[in-house]
Amino acid sequence: MRFRQWRYPYRSAYLRARTNAGVLVKCGTKPPMRYASWSIASVIALLFTACGGPGTSPAAQKREGTDQNVHIMDPHSHARPEEAVITHLSLDLNVDMEARRLKGTAAYAINRGKGDTIRFDTDGLTIHSVKLADGTDAPYTLGDTSFLGRELAVKLPAGADSLIIAYETGPGARALQWLSPGQTADKTKPFLFTQGQAILTRTWIPVQDSPGIRFTYDAKVTVPNDLMAVMSATNPQERNADGVYHFRMDKAIPAYLVALAVGDIVFKPIDERTGIYAERTMIDKAVWEFADMGKMVSTAETLYGPYRWGRYDVIVLPPSFPFGGMENPMLTFATPTVIAGDRSLTALIAHELAHSWSGNLVTNATWNDFWLNEGFTVYFEHRITEELYGPEYNAMTSLIGHQDLMNTVADMEAKGDPGDTRLKLDLAGRDPDDGMTDVAYEKGFALLRLVESRVGREKFDAFLRGYFDRYAFQSMTTERFITYLHEELLDPANVTVDVERWVYQPGIPEDDIVPVSDRFTKVEEQIARWGNGTPAKELATQGWSTFEWIHFLRHLPKGLEEGSMADLDRSFGFTRSGNTEILAAWLEQCILNDYDAAYLRLDEFLRTVGRRKFLIPLYQELVATEKGRTIAEGIYAAARPNYHSVSVRTIDAMLGWEGRQGSITL
Ligand code: BES
Ligand code: ZN
Repeated sequence: MRFRQWRYPYRSAYLRARTNAGVLVKCGTKPPMRYASWSIASVIALLFTACGGPGTSPAAQKREGTDQNVHIMDPHSHARPEEAVITHLSLDLNVDMEARRLKGTAAYAINRGKGDTIRFDTDGLTIHSVKLADGTDAPYTLGDTSFLGRELAVKLPAGADSLIIAYETGPGARALQWLSPGQTADKTKPFLFTQGQAILTRTWIPVQDSPGIRFTYDAKVTVPNDLMAVMSATNPQERNADGVYHFRMDKAIPAYLVALAVGDIVFKPIDERTGIYAERTMIDKAVWEFADMGKMVSTAETLYGPYRWGRYDVIVLPPSFPFGGMENPMLTFATPTVIAGDRSLTALIAHELAHSWSGNLVTNATWNDFWLNEGFTVYFEHRITEELYGPEYNAMTSLIGHQDLMNTVADMEAKGDPGDTRLKLDLAGRDPDDGMTDVAYEKGFALLRLVESRVGREKFDAFLRGYFDRYAFQSMTTERFITYLHEELLDPANVTVDVERWVYQPGIPEDDIVPVSDRFTKVEEQIARWGNGTPAKELATQGWSTFEWIHFLRHLPKGLEEGSMADLDRSFGFTRSGNTEILAAWLEQCILNDYDAAYLRLDEFLRTVGRRKFLIPLYQELVATEKGRTIAEGIYAAARPNYHSVSVRTIDAMLGWEGRQGSITL
């Protein structure tokens, strides 16, 4: 449980419309209805956009996905889609960078089912009004607050199929991270980004926040005119003089994929279909680092079918971004910590891109099915990188992932709590974030690797391609997938794999295939030589990749003396490494071996980088000793304002900071 250690739950507490002189016609065949004038502009704008505008043919007006919702009970949402479900969201938001607040309206097209109430998720939002399309108030109630936020239940009169909610976000909106200029790369302008997954979108939009509910969206976002806004949608490539930006996502997506970033960013293309958004000081480095993006998209397409989202762009965020990457459709959000200067950490892009199929096209129905998103994506990521960088690369990264998995499972078992080592999770009553561990990623990947090896690559590829086509823009439950797998692949191929054992039972089954890497074996030989007294500078490390260095650092002997650590650092320059993966692995060793000389660098790293995967092991090793705990407390007090709420929640729990002023209580 290392490379992806942040996923380890170290604590289990834890329409179509046409307008015609004030007459609005809903898409479909219902008779026209008259609406009062005040809200007509916004409702028409909403419905109009959703319909693709005037003169669009009925076929072109089709919005992919919204009619395919299959309603699955989601323990993490108040929405009851069988009663009423949103099919389109239209945002009009003003971004106040000084007050650190979003304020505006969210309008919805609604598909009515068997009830007279529509239920939204909200969390910390102030609701100013809820109105019907005719401008009359719709009666609503706000429910009790829990870790799921508050239900907003709105009574819908007969025939009502749209609503407008006026609202603003609260100061603690957990999806949002507001950065002061000093926390950005350029250090001149403030920055804002959102992080929706898993259940945080409800802290900035009143929405049916369940991965099983899909809708299209459009947005008008007003920002200070020296900044630019981008979303998980069609994006501007140039600055606007008035600070008003318009967005459209005309494929149905779940709420957790609605995303916004605002900052002093610029765009540069990589090729016709792909490009980078970043701050000025980062843009050229990022364009160089991610030069393979275009090739990644076409490689992915040859494997599992056409890329269906139009453009594929990446925004490089400030270093406090709590994840490596987030697969927001059309625009992956990425940490700057993968910009190593040698293109060695770009598998992250392959991963987030792969989500354009596994996750964004076929989506986990609930967070209990999270492995369907991540296990498939890790498998797909490896297929892309194998095409691009070869089988040896793949062997190394697969083995690192497998080691992480074994460590995570061992830790969970040691705590007497192996429940979350199952692929199918039971997260009811818990924050879904707590189930987002290596298990979903690496045990999921291991199962798919096993199935592939049993049926052969050709059949497996045909199966996956068929699966993504068959279930495009739909959500998928574990049970439905298993049935499909048996019927479409295993049974016809006459192959037996105990898939149920892998999915519903804890632990790692015996038929797991452990990856083998010859290059790692050679690394181990060099570690042994060093252990036997060969000075570090005489080791055969020429041509080592980032992964070999990671393997080296993770498998150093325990209890190293200061002199030995200094020998390594002098020879290999770890403390001044610009590669965050190598640096983080080294700093962990420095804590373990109490190597004082690196503490200044550790302090600097923990104050600037907010990527949870790096924070967890470092703080964890620190708190293991009394001296370390004191250091951790000091650094965290200073660093905490730089971290996003998801990292704060994790580290608060680790250091026992819950309940302190300003801490996140869940
Ligand atoms: N969707 C995840 C990030 C995520 C997971 C956010 C759960 C919130 C809740 C993203 O695709 C991901 O897996 N990121 C990894 C990248 C890595 C596996 C290459 C990360 O951030 O480390
Ligand atoms: Zn992922």
